[in-house]
Amino acid sequence: MILVTGGAGFIGSNFVLDWLAHRDEPVLNLDKLTYAGNRRNLASLDGDARHVFVRGDIGDAALVARLLAEHRPRAVINFAAESHVDRSIHGAEDFVQTNVVGTFRLLEAVRAHWLARPEAERAAFRFLHVSTDEVYGSLAPDAPAFTERHPYEPNSPYSASKAASDHLVRAWHHTHGLPVLTTNCSNNYGPFHFPEKLIPLMIVNALAGKPLPVYGDGLQVRDWLYVGDHCSAIRRVLEAGRVGETYNVGGWNEQTNIAIVKTICALLDQLRPRADGQSYATQITHVKDRPGHDRRYAIDARKIESDLGWRPAETFDSGIRKTVRWFLDHPEWVAEVQSGAYRDWVQAQYQGAA
Ligand code: NAD
Ligand code: DAU
Repeated sequence: MILVTGGAGFIGSNFVLDWLAHRDEPVLNLDKLTYAGNRRNLASLDGDARHVFVRGDIGDAALVARLLAEHRPRAVINFAAESHVDRSIHGAEDFVQTNVVGTFRLLEAVRAHWLARPEAERAAFRFLHVSTDEVYGSLAPDAPAFTERHPYEPNSPYSASKAASDHLVRAWHHTHGLPVLTTNCSNNYGPFHFPEKLIPLMIVNALAGKPLPVYGDGLQVRDWLYVGDHCSAIRRVLEAGRVGETYNVGGWNEQTNIAIVKTICALLDQLRPRADGQSYATQITHVKDRPGHDRRYAIDARKIESDLGWRPAETFDSGIRKTVRWFLDHPEWVAEVQSGAYRDWVQAQYQGAA
């Protein structure tokens, strides 16, 4: 069995579904179910004995130790994190608690579990830490894309907390010998993406007739990867990655935010035209910029391709089409995640501008 943490969030739930579609190995899923965690994402696994869900915190050392002793996973994949940059600007406490302290406690519990295994199991054991390209900071317009050797220069409370967790993972390997792997991935998009992030927010706001809030000039660049491709990259790194190495994962797909928003509007114009015949692009509004906003991220994904043979399967065109269709086909999922606390967040962040 494998232990997945944060497996009810956006990428984690896609990973659990993808894993069980490709492997017959059970998943123990430990998730705190914060505002971002959603059991409904995993509803298709109800009654499937290969999926064991436990609500809990990666920082709860006693719980994690008990789960490890009971289920004896051969690998841990750590998705659990606070993940939204704007929330980390409003308040960083939860980011430090989960991303830094939580990762530390998880590493300690996993190390004790790993040390107690017989030698053959110890050699095969893996701790895979899922991280982000944001730890590398911001790129100048014509600078080469981030390689695995790029210095860490995190700029937001979120990316600083992820950078700290990456350093802890690295240290637990170098000092304690824990067999770790780290992936640093670019921006994901796809099904179950929580509508506080750019792509799902634009889709749901467009359909609701609300403004589409573009920060600043909208010329910031991100490198977008379809979430299913991130899942296949993690499977590949887990299977064949060299212990102690880090692997950058990206979509070879740099785009400005404004280009992304216009693509979404054009797709919606085709698939669900507005009743008044106008384009959704008329809803675009420029709003105040994010403090400390990183201008550009881009991933050089040559290492994972040359060493492990991984490349993304989706183009942006195919991936964004699937994503927009998924949101059109799942209005009940959108309505559920937009209830309650979500409304308070939108009010605090956009103050009526979205
Ligand atoms: P998300 O916010 O959608 O999901 C995070 C999940 O972790 C939620 O289910 C939440 O309930 C759970 N969680 C939070 N704190 C926890 C705790 N203390 N203990 C147990 N569970 C906890 O995030 P996501 O977008 O799915 O990102 C998953 C991971 O991938 C994160 O580590 C993030 O840094 C990384 N990442 C995300 C992206 C992206 O574009 N979304 C890109 C690269 C890397
Ligand atoms: O690069 C990987 C990272 O991508 C992950 O580590 C993070 O967990 C994930 O949230 C994401 O971070 P970003 O800050 O890049 O994603 P977000 O969707 O919040 O924003 C994408 C871009 O769009 C960014 O330049 C800010 C901008 N934006 C975002 C929102 C929510 C807007 O212009 N308007 C908005 O309303």
